[in-house]
Formats: sequence, C-alpha cells, structure tokens
Amino acid sequence: MSTNVNIDWDKLGFAYSKTDLRYISIWKDGKWDAGKLVEDNNISISEASTSLHYGQQCFEGLKAYRTKDGSIQLFRPDENAKRINRSCERVLMPEIPVDKFVDACLQVVKANEAFVPPYGSGATLYIRPYVIGIGDNLGVGPAPEFLFGVFCCPVGAYFKGGLAPVNFMISEKFDRAAPHGTGADKIGGNYAASLLAHVEATKKGFADCVYLDPATHTNIEEVGAANFFGITNNNVFATPKSPSILPSITKYSLIHIAKEYLKMNIEERVIPIDSLGEFIEAGACGTAAVITPIGGIEYKGNLHVFYSETEVGPITRKLYDLLYGIQFGDVKAPEGWIVKVK
Ligand code: PLP
Ligand code: COI
Repeated sequence: MSTNVNIDWDKLGFAYSKTDLRYISIWKDGKWDAGKLVEDNNISISEASTSLHYGQQCFEGLKAYRTKDGSIQLFRPDENAKRINRSCERVLMPEIPVDKFVDACLQVVKANEAFVPPYGSGATLYIRPYVIGIGDNLGVGPAPEFLFGVFCCPVGAYFKGGLAPVNFMISEKFDRAAPHGTGADKIGGNYAASLLAHVEATKKGFADCVYLDPATHTNIEEVGAANFFGITNNNVFATPKSPSILPSITKYSLIHIAKEYLKMNIEERVIPIDSLGEFIEAGACGTAAVITPIGGIEYKGNLHVFYSETEVGPITRKLYDLLYGIQFGDVKAPEGWIVKVK
C-alpha cells in the first residue's frame, strides 16, 4: 500500500487514478451490510446485472479539501446523501441512510489521506459514490441486490484553465433529458445521452454544450456537467428553474452566497435562449466545474459573448473567491456546510 505518493499536484487534470482503498457495501435480503474498505479497484458482478442492461444505477460527486492548517474537510456531504437517495428512489434502488453515506465518504478520504492535494495547489480529492443494481436478472425490473461504492482520486480543473472563460455551444440536435424523465436525478443514462453532443461540441472547439429545455427548445437548461447562471446589470443572480436539470449543490450554495454575502437578488426562473443579452456575466457551476466563467455561447451560428472571452467578470470572481474560500476553510462557512475529516 502506498502512503507516500509522488504526484505533480499542479499538473492534475480531471482524470481517474487509483488510490489505496475504496468502500463497498452490499444490499441483500432487504438490508445494507456494514460495508468495508477494499484494495481491489475492480468489481466483479453478474453479467445479468440491471446496471449493465437497464441503467439501474446512479452516482454522486463531492470533494475533500486540504485547509491551510493541513486538516481535511468535506463540503455539504449531507446534500449529496439526500440527492443520491432521490436518484435511488427514482430508479427503484434502496435508500442509503445519510450517516452511512457520509461515514463511507469520510472512511475513504481518511484511508487515502496521502492523496489529498496540498493547500494552495488548487487541486482537491474528488469523491465518487455510486449505487448499482447487481445480481441475476433478465426481465426489465429492479435488481435483487445492490452495491454502494465510494472511491476517490486527486483532481485538478474539470474545464481547462480553472478560473478562465471557456465557450459553450447550444446543443441543437440532442437533448440530455426528457420532460418527465430523469434529468433532475444523477443517473448514468442522462450522461450517456449527453456523450455524443459533448464530443461533437469539443471537436468544434467548445468546452461542452448547453442544453435547452426538452419540451420547447426555447429555454436554457444546463451545461452537460454543471448548472448555468447569469448576472444582470441590476445585481441579479439568475439561474434556470426546470424540472429536468440537476439540482446543483454548488448552485444552491452560490445562491446563498450571492444573497447573504454579496446582497444580490436571486431569480430562479425560466431563461429564454433569446434573452442572453440581459446578462453581463455568465458561468457554469458544479462540484467538478467549481465556477467556470462562460466566455460565450454559440447558438444558430452566432457566438454571444458575455463579459469577455479572455477575462473573468468581477462578480463571477467575487462568487468564486467566496465559494473557494469557504471550501478550503479560509472564509467562515454557513452553519453545517463543512464536515471535518478526523
Ligand atoms: N448538472 C449536472 C448535469 C452535473 O453532472 C453536475 C455535477 O454534479 C451539476 C449540474 C452540478 O451539481 P453539483 O453542484 O451538485 O456538483
Ligand atoms: C460533478 O461535478 O461532481 C460531476 O459529477 C460532474 C461530472 C464529472 C459528471
């Protein structure tokens, strides 16, 4: 087992690397077992598992942060626990008690402490909990057994450049979610549906695409792996309201920060694609994306530039500094947002 790691923290991208230990718990005969840490990063499951054929699975994403004093902390893991349970409910998988979920994340971080990037590197330890249907099954129906796993790996910026603007394009050909589908849950099928659009966008030089609402294709939904927000010239933080976008924990944290720390007005509402002109700044937000300023969005062959394609707008920077400061322990967090790894 490696306790001394040799990683160039500054050069990390958002990529998988194997760490020492991961957590596995099995649900069988109506209950979860106690769960344990294992060394093997391969899992062996029945070829007839529902997760492989019928997409009965879901996942989460959160991070561990190294603070200035060398301690390690998680950001709102209870919110990820609540969201994984909403995803589980949607695809008929068993609930995971919030304490079990948070404890599993804490165990994995502690067991891989050497992989938590140093304070100041900007890198973090990404934690990936997931639930999959396993066991023998053939017909379309819920699995007889389930596996709850948590692994982690050190990561850098998701979108190249970190706090540097990137351009997105509107996906005009593909939707990621259906009007009454699974868009609001963190279910693999949403991401499978977005792969082609994402690859086509990156081939054209965009960081990712922004989806429109699947019913009318007139309103902004979200980015493939992050929520959208815009800032107006009269101090409003606006973000789409839709039943088919993922309720981003980062987005709701930013809403709190914008309101309480920056005294901004909040509008969670429909954002028509033809109203981009009302925003002086825009960004993508999420655990992996943190806050990624949006330089411009291309729609119907025109690139609409918000603040700048090369510079970060002043409000986006303030939001970023506050969020980043809270996550890394430099700014006092609202009650209950931080869980220390002991
Ligand atoms: N939207 C999608 C589709 C995502 O995959 C993510 C990432 O988790 C987000 C939004 C941001 O959510 P959060 O801030 O909870 O990470
Ligand atoms: C996250 O931000 O945690 C995500 O899950 C986004 C992506 C890597 C799927």
